Amino acid sequence: MKVDVLIIGAGAAGLMCAIAAGQRGRSVLVVDHANKVGKKILMSGGGRCNFTNTGTTPANFLSANPHFAKSALARYTPWDFIALVEKHRIAYHEKELGQLFCDDSSKQIVRMLLGECAAVDVTVEASCGVRAVRRAPEGFSVATARGEVHAQSLVIASGGLSIPSMGASGFGYELARQFGHAVLPTRAGLVPLTLSGKHQEHYQDLAGVALPVVETRVGKQSFRAGLLFTHRGLSGPAILQISSYWQPGDDLRIDLLPDQDAGAWLVEQRAARPAAELKTVLGEALPKRLAQRLCERWVLAPQDGGHPWPLPAHESRPMRQYRDAELVQVGARLNAWPITASGTEGYRTAEVTLGGIDTDGLSSSTLQSKLVPGLYFIGEVVDVTGWLGGYNFQWAWASGQAAGAVA
Ligand code: FDA
Repeated sequence: MKVDVLIIGAGAAGLMCAIAAGQRGRSVLVVDHANKVGKKILMSGGGRCNFTNTGTTPANFLSANPHFAKSALARYTPWDFIALVEKHRIAYHEKELGQLFCDDSSKQIVRMLLGECAAVDVTVEASCGVRAVRRAPEGFSVATARGEVHAQSLVIASGGLSIPSMGASGFGYELARQFGHAVLPTRAGLVPLTLSGKHQEHYQDLAGVALPVVETRVGKQSFRAGLLFTHRGLSGPAILQISSYWQPGDDLRIDLLPDQDAGAWLVEQRAARPAAELKTVLGEALPKRLAQRLCERWVLAPQDGGHPWPLPAHESRPMRQYRDAELVQVGARLNAWPITASGTEGYRTAEVTLGGIDTDGLSSSTLQSKLVPGLYFIGEVVDVTGWLGGYNFQWAWASGQAAGAVA
């Protein structure tokens, strides 16, 4: 079989690229080894697909070259994708911070992309793995599960390593190496963090406790969003976001009361309500179970000479019995919770893969290989990773469009 463009991977980037190339009159085949196309789109955004973010800027992406994504993002904006969504009469809403979700189902986005593919005669084959790729005089020769395909242009849109059960594979990285491209080390991003040892012991029974707004920080990068305790550690948007910037050994700071100087607030509370117990006061600013646990850890534990954990259910003291220094110390811990993450949950639950194909080897305007003419890499397989909030799909659409405009 002969086609102009063969795209490996029928996810967000691959389907978008197919549409753009098909609209230029190119014959396009998209193959995917999974039994269903667009699986990550289907599972995204809790089944409602957070398909873009209206506030997208290059600053919302991690890459060894922070300038690389600029060109593609500028040429295919969130408004271009919104126009497509509106053309297909898909109802959507803004959740927060420019995040757009389908009102009904992420199936509508897959249906829309497949509809656009069909309109320009793009062929999409699921359950079609790729065995080998080699350079041919007029392009590429690719051995697929359905036979040999000859293509002038070859686009690799096979995604990252996250969620292997959904079809994720290291295929794109291996192929890049085969053609001489550098691949930067990969790791899980937008992923829950795990606790171990005494940190896990102290907090694991808080699984399910949520805080609506905390501030997580690693170095200069910080995020304000929700936090959730899990059986294995910490999750929620503020943790997922900072996980992309955190590596084992890094100092992770979590401010549990980001809008106030917690020490000064506690001193004020003592003046206003001297008879109230500390845990009661804390329980008005934090979930009660967490407030109780922090009181046990910070206020009672040091005083009982290393009492074995779990501590007996002491009654906490009324506010008037705390000295300024004690309240200021509790406040400092609330504003910089001394918790140490031991690792991440890894690719099993990560939303994205950081790292990947080194952008030095690619054109930023077309995503074409600088080493092998006719070869393109798009989407998550490239070393461009977005924050949580629709940015990763916007990169998939934009990079897919950039390659599809020329492939
Ligand atoms: P994607 O992974 O979508 O597609 C790659 C395709 O290649 C897959 O269909 C795979 O089967 C196929 N493939 C892999 N190896 C192959 C091989 N050897 N041969 C043939 N085919 C192969 N982002 C966002 O912006 N908003 C959101 O709401 C979410 N939500 C979300 C939830 C969850 C649970 C996850 C895991 C991820 C998200 N994301 C997200 C991230 C987003 O899904 C992701 O960044 C994009 O899907 C990446 O698009 P790609 O097309 O690059 O890869």
